Amino acid sequence: MRTLTVELPGGAYEIRIGDGLLAELGAMLLPFHGEETPVVVVTDENVWSHYRAPLAASLAAAGIAFVPAVCPPGETNKSMDGLERLYDVFAKAGLPRGGLVVAFGGGVVGDLAGFAAATWMRGVQLVQVPTTLLAQVDSSVGGKTAVNHAHGKNLIGAFYQPKLVVVDPETLRTLPAREVRGGMAEVIKYGAIRSKSLFDTLDGDMKPAALAEIIEACCRIKSEIVVRDERDFGERMLLNFGHTFGHAIERRHGFGHYTHGEAVAFGMVVAARLGERLALTQPGAADALRRLLARHRLAPDYPEPPVVLAPAMASDKKSGGRGVRLVLLRRIGEAFTQEMRFDDIEAALALLGAAPQVFSQ
Ligand code: NAD
Ligand code: GLY
Repeated sequence: MRTLTVELPGGAYEIRIGDGLLAELGAMLLPFHGEETPVVVVTDENVWSHYRAPLAASLAAAGIAFVPAVCPPGETNKSMDGLERLYDVFAKAGLPRGGLVVAFGGGVVGDLAGFAAATWMRGVQLVQVPTTLLAQVDSSVGGKTAVNHAHGKNLIGAFYQPKLVVVDPETLRTLPAREVRGGMAEVIKYGAIRSKSLFDTLDGDMKPAALAEIIEACCRIKSEIVVRDERDFGERMLLNFGHTFGHAIERRHGFGHYTHGEAVAFGMVVAARLGERLALTQPGAADALRRLLARHRLAPDYPEPPVVLAPAMASDKKSGGRGVRLVLLRRIGEAFTQEMRFDDIEAALALLGAAPQVFSQ
């Protein structure tokens, strides 16, 4: 088992990573479990169909009774309605202050259960057990929890750190291939913004056993950044590399047309090309990214000229003013933020044209 500690001023917590850890989850929950009340396990129907039996066995072995809250899968459940349904389960289970919520699923379950735990009785204990690659390398760590609103994604939320994160990479065996590829875009993002050696590892002959090591590398980068900037006022914004353009792509095509990871993959290449065009990014970085994404079976090139994304960027409710802080690469392994007006971004995007269709593999 690999263990990282996230040392935050509000309290430290561990990220434990290892194949087969689901079997030990019950024992790991014991320090957070009050004997007289059940644990509420929030999950979705897909995860539950695969892991109901091992999860139940793991908790039973530790003598922990639990109440499952099984949500429909998908982003639409990360809503005020979905939240209301969870509160109903919490109420029926008699979840008290000091009670424990386990978020067992992908980023949707983690964000929803996390926000429910943050707000029920002004905050109960939360343990994250992520089951998608995206959730294992990103969303389960760092304490961002949220539900969506008609005016935008993640508009209602809280920073609420878990007591523990338990990552069992074996759960990824049942994850659909498209979801694995989407998570891989986030893994590649960590290499691009902070670790040339991770980037190079991903470009090498990766063995399946290397997955836990890669998840650990990503969680280490994320937790180091979160410890320095928990509330996302500075360095944490680097984690949004590719996301400004990625979100614009998701908005332009309607959420669900491209997965989040697919849109982020396009967005990272657009950002790298933009940086090169502005002479802020080392030449060749965009091609290196494109090659690595293609190697992991992610399409690297957004099929339209990137300038079409400008209106969708400017209409982002979260961006507020007349510009954004864009995350750009200095080179592979190093990123920085740059305040840019939408007009200037649009002018620079217009210079990019469509992506080159051929590149050397
Ligand atoms: P998801 O939670 O919707 O999971 C993707 C699909 O995989 C779902 O259909 C789910 O049922 C299924 N699934 C999950 N685990 C499985 C498994 N082991 N086997 C088989 N199927 C499985 O999507 P996601 O990509 O994990 O998360 C996306 C969400 O994460 C978005 O809402 C996004 O806003 C959020 N997010 C949050 C943060 C954060 O810091 N809090 C960071 C990034 C993304
Ligand atoms: N996923 C970006 C963050 O946690 O800040």
